[in-house]
Amino acid sequence: QPFHLDTANEEEIKRITKLGLVDGVTTNPSLIAKEGRDHKEVIQEISSLVSGPVSAEVIGTKADEMLEEAFQIAEWAPNVVIKLPMTEDGLYATNALAAKGIKTNVTLIFSAAQGLMAAKAGATYISPFVGRLDDIGVDGLNLISDLNTIIKNYNLSAEIIVASIRNIGHLERAATLGAHIATIPGSLLPSLWKHPLTDIGIEKFLADYRSSQAI
Ligand code: E4P
Repeated sequence: QPFHLDTANEEEIKRITKLGLVDGVTTNPSLIAKEGRDHKEVIQEISSLVSGPVSAEVIGTKADEMLEEAFQIAEWAPNVVIKLPMTEDGLYATNALAAKGIKTNVTLIFSAAQGLMAAKAGATYISPFVGRLDDIGVDGLNLISDLNTIIKNYNLSAEIIVASIRNIGHLERAATLGAHIATIPGSLLPSLWKHPLTDIGIEKFLADYRSSQAI
C-alpha cells in the first residue's frame, strides 16, 4: 500500500525515506505552523526530498482566492498537489484545476456524499479523516469502505488518501479495505515496525547465542 507521510518535518521525511517507505507527503497549515518557517520554503524543501506527490493546502476560502494561490503553488515544484477544502468553492476550484491538468487533493471529507462530489468534480485525491470521525463517535473506517465501493461502482479516477490516522489499527484496516493510500503521522512511525514479541524474540536469540558461545 502506498504511504504518504503526514508531516512537514524534514528530518522525519529524510529518516523514513531511507527505509523506502515514503511515496509522498501530505501537509496542512497546522503541520507547517509547527515548523515555524515560511510555507513556500517548507513545501519546496519537502518536494525536493521526495519524488512522489506533496500536498500543499490553500489558505483562501473563496474560489478565486483558492485558484490564485493554486496557480502560484503549482509553480513551486513539479510534484506539488493542491490541497483544497471540501466546500462549494473548493469544488469549483477543483474542477477548474482539473481542466488545466493540475493535481488536487480535496481535504476535510467526513461523508460519502462529500467524497463522491469531490471525485466527480475531478479531484486527483480525496482525503477522508478517519480519526476525527472516531473522535465524535462515528466509525471513520466505514467511510473508507463506502468510498472504496463508490469509486469502484462508478470507475472514478480519484484515489483515497486515508487521513487523520490515529493508530496502527486504522492503517491496517484501511489497507485491508484496499484504500489507495494512507497518510501516516510522525507520532505513529515506531509502531509501524515495532512489536513487543519481536523485541522479546531478539533478546532470546541473542541470549541463547551468547550462552552457546560461552560453553
Ligand atoms: C491530512 O491530509 C490531514 O491534514 C491530516 O491527516 C489530519 O490529521 P489530524 O486529524 O490528526 O489533524
